[in-house]
Amino acid sequence: MTSNLQLCNYTFPKGFAWGASTAAYQIEGGWDADGKGPNVWDTFTHQGGDRVFKNQTGDVACGSYTLWEEDLKCIKQLGLTHYRFSLSWSRLLPDGTTGFINQKGIDYYNKVIDDLLTNGIMPMVTLNHFDLPQALEDQGGWLSENIVGFFNKYAEFCFNTFGNRVKMWITINEPSIVAKYAYENGLHAPGIKESGTGAYQTAHNMIKAHAKAWHTYHLLFKEKQHGFVSLALNANWAEPLDPTSEADVKATERYLAFSLGWFAKPIFIDGDYPPLMKSSVAAKSKEQGYPSSRLPEFTKEEMQMIKGTADFFCLNYYTTRKIRHQEYAQARPSFQADEEVEEIKDPSWPISSIEWLAVVPWGIRKLLKHIKDTCNDPIIYITENGFAQSDPAPLEDAQRWEYFRQTLLEILKGIYIDKANVKGYFVWSLMDNFEWTEGYSKRFGLFHVDYNSSSLPRVPYTSASEYAKVVSSNRLPEPEKKLK
Ligand code: BGC
Repeated sequence: MTSNLQLCNYTFPKGFAWGASTAAYQIEGGWDADGKGPNVWDTFTHQGGDRVFKNQTGDVACGSYTLWEEDLKCIKQLGLTHYRFSLSWSRLLPDGTTGFINQKGIDYYNKVIDDLLTNGIMPMVTLNHFDLPQALEDQGGWLSENIVGFFNKYAEFCFNTFGNRVKMWITINEPSIVAKYAYENGLHAPGIKESGTGAYQTAHNMIKAHAKAWHTYHLLFKEKQHGFVSLALNANWAEPLDPTSEADVKATERYLAFSLGWFAKPIFIDGDYPPLMKSSVAAKSKEQGYPSSRLPEFTKEEMQMIKGTADFFCLNYYTTRKIRHQEYAQARPSFQADEEVEEIKDPSWPISSIEWLAVVPWGIRKLLKHIKDTCNDPIIYITENGFAQSDPAPLEDAQRWEYFRQTLLEILKGIYIDKANVKGYFVWSLMDNFEWTEGYSKRFGLFHVDYNSSSLPRVPYTSASEYAKVVSSNRLPEPEKKLK
């Protein structure tokens, strides 16, 4: 094992993409500046109700709408080859439709894209990272099938406006999080609780919206613009709590089917949901007296339309779980009761300062292999990976860098030993930012942001200088300890 890596001298493949990621609502601020329309996170945070830490909002965030040049300095300081950011849909189209186009929004993103390119940095652009325009939410949001058409028009507008310069597109960020948190348990904006149906309906529309946008690109723009389109899927790696228990082994397969497989199988393989997911939801729905499964079905034409609609695989990896079979006796149907798993963090895994984020670097290698094996050996970009510190966070974050280093080492093993086709790695996040329900209490940045100072200064953590060394040399410093 070791020898393969030594052979490669801990060097990443030539042309490896080194990036960092952000998302519009988490960094931009300027929530109502220059004609921007409200999105669901503006509404959600403004309603208060202690759903977000200290009722904090993204109204100002890192101020990137006016401080883009400061962000650019950070990106240059790291020497990144790529920068991933998202477009605020309601900054460009205030009511979500092309009925009114906000030129100021176009100007802002034009500047970001042009500045990146002038500095030799490739933009990777996400069309929608959790912040649906409120006007579209008012018409049913992701729960309504109408969103497929709205999203397609928005995507077409973006390809048309920015596609002469942007070559890497991500349609939707982490559809499973939106499905489960925004429309099933209501913890995220818009806070809808439709237990047992919300997540499935949302995902169904998101998959169709993604696929339609992919076709629009390939039909109308690909020939001229030569870009690539995918979506970003988050996934935990998972292993049975008791590998000798058949129930736990099956539960682990179910867990993977209900997370990564839910989206990856239709999009990368055959246009349809994993059989384990279909059978579980159908069985529970029947027991509950539903006339048909709560998991919607794709028509034959839709399956045709969906399969193969990703030009590369975008993986957001943070953590791993041990899985135990668990039945939930609940009065009402729910995603959790359909899935029948209990997620467990092994006590030996360090916890970063965010409760769900157990640090398991080896999990990424297993996941890369799983994606290679189950998704037709795609080109993979790791579009997010990171570790949170709590506030206040020390600038010297040697422990956190150690987590990054171990993760990068596992990625090298994935590349050279397992032959996963990994082409890039993006840290979440370029700088500390609004961490959704955690507000500003958790810090994921390579750069520290001082929210108490009106100029919102960005200062590098130790991890930033260490990452810059890796980026510039395209290799990891050789570990001192012997590899296992
Ligand atoms: C999301 C980011 C988020 C990060 C850390 C990902 O799920 O895409 O927006 O900040 O994880 O929680």
